[in-house]
Amino acid sequence: MMRLQKYLASCGVASRRGAEEIIAAGRVQVNGVTVTEMGTSVEEYDDEVTVDGKAVYPEEKKVYILLSKPKGYVTTATDPQGRPTVLDLVDVKERVFPVGRLDLNTEGLLILTNDGEFANKMMHPRYECEKTYFVRLAEPLGEDGVAQLRKGVWIEEEQFMTSPATVVRKDENKFSVTIREGKKRQVRRMFEAVGSKVLYLRRTAIGELRDTKLEKGKWRYLTPDEVKYLISYANGKR
Ligand code: URA
Repeated sequence: MMRLQKYLASCGVASRRGAEEIIAAGRVQVNGVTVTEMGTSVEEYDDEVTVDGKAVYPEEKKVYILLSKPKGYVTTATDPQGRPTVLDLVDVKERVFPVGRLDLNTEGLLILTNDGEFANKMMHPRYECEKTYFVRLAEPLGEDGVAQLRKGVWIEEEQFMTSPATVVRKDENKFSVTIREGKKRQVRRMFEAVGSKVLYLRRTAIGELRDTKLEKGKWRYLTPDEVKYLISYANGKR
């Protein structure tokens, strides 16, 4: 429960003092009833508070989370098939959402936030940031295939030519791949385009952001320096 004037201030409507004036002026309704009393308490998220007929909501603190996504979780907020979502793994009160997507069976680093502006910047195609993946293939891939990936390959389903990728061989069937684009199932499709099947895919870096210690299914808040880095990265200052 919270005093109405404090609640209005937390919604960014006005200062607490300014909110008192707005209440006194009869401009505020709680659950459809005009309130002019200062002492009124409201329940965040349960009571509907309007100012001049428009609903107002508390401004949330901006949070930035790094999750190590396991297989078997979707990155949409809800799934029509009822599969678990990455939001099931993150127990914060803020309403966060994933920045970009990872396939159901892809593991690795995923950022979640409630900062829409930040998310838009991170996902803007012009500033799409580099993402690095560890890839394990069903069969070895020769140097010809690797050379094609480095040059760019044609993705038939999307009618799209990929940009040159950074491909580092780790083993005969294991690679580190860095791409800047984020088309649907892009890494899997790139390897399909050179005749290979991806058996295992994990995102290991977003720009320079890495975390090898974060256990699968666990999350942590990004540090202020990491947030600063990502914001400047998303702003195109590379
Ligand atoms: N590329 C893919 O194929 N899948 C992902 O989840 C991410 C990149």
